[in-house]
Amino acid sequence: MKMQITLTVNGDKYELLVSPLSKLVDVLREELGITGTKKGCGEGECGACTVIMDGQPVSSCLVLAPQADGKSILTIEGLESRDGILDPIQESFMKKGAIQCGYCSPGMILTAKALLLVNEHPSEDEIRNAISGNLCRCTGYQKIVDAVLDVTE
Ligand code: FES
Repeated sequence: MKMQITLTVNGDKYELLVSPLSKLVDVLREELGITGTKKGCGEGECGACTVIMDGQPVSSCLVLAPQADGKSILTIEGLESRDGILDPIQESFMKKGAIQCGYCSPGMILTAKALLLVNEHPSEDEIRNAISGNLCRCTGYQKIVDAVLDVTE
């Protein structure tokens, strides 16, 4: 049995028929073709699938589609302005070399963005705490922390 949900993703509204057990990450990627959100573990362990839902960072592999009904979702695609200007946090990740393979980057950047929305000048400890659920196998985290610190200056 399918159910109808309404999602606003990056400012665009979608009416969808979904399985009640489908996950938000799969709805974004497979139903809507919004593939910037990455799926790693699928079990809430890696943070690759992080999106911002009504202002809060969430692991979209842990959100069932019905739980997202009526919510506003921001994915990495929505961080860039409609005329192609990157968000300062995206610029900072590039400038600081905080991206290597890039698989964790959308989730990492959205986690950082969610932190900056509530705390414009986070300390290094606050940044490390915020990204503690986002795993990166390449950078050793320091460049990521530096990128977030840099955007606050
Ligand atoms: Fe969602 Fe790993 S894919 S936390």
